[in-house]
Amino acid sequence: MFNVDHLDTIIVSCNRYREISRFFSELERPVRLNAPLKQKPHNQNEAQTALYELHRQFLRCYGLSRGPENVKGRFDEKVALVTGAARSLGRSLAVAFAKEGADLIVNDICAELATVKYPLGTEERLAEVAEEVRHLGRRCMAVKADVSKAVEVKSMVRRAVRDLGKIDILINNAGISTMVDVVNMPDDVWDETIAVNLRSAFLCSKHVARQMIRRKYGRIVNVCSVYGLVGAPCAAHYSASKHGMIGFTRSLAQELAPYDITVNALCPALTDTEMSRAVANIYTTRGWDQIASEVGANTLFPDHRVMTVQDVTEAVLWLCSDSAKYITGVALPVDGGFLTN
Ligand SMILES: NC(=O)c1ccc[n+]([C@@H]2O[C@H](COP(=O)([O-])OP(=O)(O)OC[C@H]3O[C@@H](n4cnc5c(N)ncnc54)[C@H](O)[C@@H]3O)[C@@H](O)[C@H]2O)c1
Repeated sequence: MFNVDHLDTIIVSCNRYREISRFFSELERPVRLNAPLKQKPHNQNEAQTALYELHRQFLRCYGLSRGPENVKGRFDEKVALVTGAARSLGRSLAVAFAKEGADLIVNDICAELATVKYPLGTEERLAEVAEEVRHLGRRCMAVKADVSKAVEVKSMVRRAVRDLGKIDILINNAGISTMVDVVNMPDDVWDETIAVNLRSAFLCSKHVARQMIRRKYGRIVNVCSVYGLVGAPCAAHYSASKHGMIGFTRSLAQELAPYDITVNALCPALTDTEMSRAVANIYTTRGWDQIASEVGANTLFPDHRVMTVQDVTEAVLWLCSDSAKYITGVALPVDGGFLTN
């Protein structure tokens, strides 16, 4: 017989799903799925989403906590979509939102791009993030999609709203970074950088904001960069995409404020992630260790280090919290003072 104590560790197959849902419906206080999850799941992902919905309803029905930690989070009952979540900052954000009570849609391209010389996120790593979120007792959908493609974004948002009911928080985090000077820049490097870093924010915001407007609530954070506020050699394409994102943020903030939706940009300086390490090692002769120690040495704070994903994550979560509900249209540097120079 299926035992509810095993919920967090059980590997759910579509076949076992019937047995599990029967167990829930035969309880003293029966727990049943609401539409649209009540039909038999078509795949592992849907089965897991349905299982966690049952788990949630079970805990609620029996007056227990929502998750293992029994902590009231800043994002209880919220649903967050994080793009580019298979690793680095996106992963850190997804897990942090889950720890504070949110259900998640984690997205990644899970494929290589022709103009980028370093490997991008993979399906296995995206699945690991989804699993980590579920182990925190939250529902999680993993969606492989290229957020620079309109059809893929539309379908991702439709599926997310169908299965998780809504999207309250959108973090436009997916991005790529390469280094080349303008006179030697192939046209497709420019185009792909603008598409992945900027067009994606437009597409995701457009489709997600429609249902936020209907519900008169939302938080959108666009992960930009300090290079959205200043320029840098060999980064005209990256810097242009991030400057564009800030203009987009300010304009969208004005359009959505009447619906209690905030739209902000976050501008991190160099942060220790897989992208930064790869870019430093592939596109420069100095390499990551040297660049990290030089940047660290120049920071204003006495610990003289490059920033971590936790530094950036804290700021994103704050912008999405009720504490920041009157802040919109800002481009907030999280840079250890980098821009004061
Ligand atoms: N690392 C830094 O120093 C730094 C500084 C400032 C801003 N940023 C920004 O932070 C964000 C995250 O960067 P990171 O350092 O964690 O990078 P990362 O490369 O380690 O992670 C980014 C993720 O985005 C995914 N991705 C790329 N293109 C995608 C697409 N078209 N659709 C869906 N997913 C896609 C990748 O597969 C990868 O998993 C980026 O927008 C980046 O520009 C990073």
